[in-house]
Amino acid sequence: MTMNEFDRHRRLRKSATLRSLVRETKLNTSDLVYPLFIVEGETIKSEVSSMPGVFQISLDYLDEEIDELLTLGIPAVLLFGIPKEKDEVGSGAYDPHGIVQKAIRQIKQKTDKLLVIADTCLCEYTSHGHCGVIHDHDVDNDKSLPLHVKTAVTQAEAGADIIAPSNMMDGFVTEIRKGLDEAGFCEIPIMSYAVKYASAFYGPFRDAADSTPQFGDRKTYQMDPANRLEAMREAQSDIEEGADFIIVKPALSYMDIIREMRNAHPVPVVAYNVSGEYSMIKAASLNGWIDEKAVVIEKLTSMKRAGADIIITYFAKDVAAWLQEKS
Ligand code: PBG
Repeated sequence: MTMNEFDRHRRLRKSATLRSLVRETKLNTSDLVYPLFIVEGETIKSEVSSMPGVFQISLDYLDEEIDELLTLGIPAVLLFGIPKEKDEVGSGAYDPHGIVQKAIRQIKQKTDKLLVIADTCLCEYTSHGHCGVIHDHDVDNDKSLPLHVKTAVTQAEAGADIIAPSNMMDGFVTEIRKGLDEAGFCEIPIMSYAVKYASAFYGPFRDAADSTPQFGDRKTYQMDPANRLEAMREAQSDIEEGADFIIVKPALSYMDIIREMRNAHPVPVVAYNVSGEYSMIKAASLNGWIDEKAVVIEKLTSMKRAGADIIITYFAKDVAAWLQEKS
């Protein structure tokens, strides 16, 4: 005696409580990583023009920033440094008293409640803005590797909890793992930017980190946005080389890749919700064209649904505050 010739999917959508009960994916503050741009100098708190709400700060503003993040319950920061001086070989990146190394020490002195993830790259420190040393108008893979290793080791010595190499050289996980182990840091995990596309969505970040390449582009080391199998190969190598986490970057245009990673590799998958993705939403919401909170929560929840376990996002503070409101 059936009443219906069809399924009643709306049964499970009847009330907010019921919808919450059957919700498959939930966004939590504990999923979020907040990127910080630390600039050399004093009393600097300067808003990035293409990223409203995101600031470059000097070390004297770091403590109050950390207090705010702790109050919000954000578990981790990802550190980028902007040095006063740059050179051909990015010396500031592996200076034991470089800006990021100082920032790490300062945070660690203040608290053990916040995980410090160090972005390991040279592009903010090189005069040419590329992620390694230049030979013949291109980044020399094997000559760059030892500099990335030195950078990672100085970051670990300063107290970094996780090393996140974003340089996209071949073999960087192998070499950095070896370097960390030899320096006594076999317990420090590597969060590899395994799948990093040569994306136009990094534009605002390059303003924020002052890392625009002075010639050419990054297409000989970052990946072609058209490729999926290449992502599988990159991640496969990094996992074999010992990566503990894999990052997919950017996130929004690469949800299929996040899902591929989740299905293929039993390691935590990290989505990097990059600068251009932030700026687009900010611009539209500042114009009153979209509802910022609703759009951001929908986007980040979708990244989790796609398979991300962790999300690096410039919206972390906003999301944490919104989630606090709700509860
Ligand atoms: C450094 C690095 C970049 C980003 C993170 N690490 C820039 C780049 O590769 O050009 C981009 C992050 C963002 O756009 O939010 N190699």
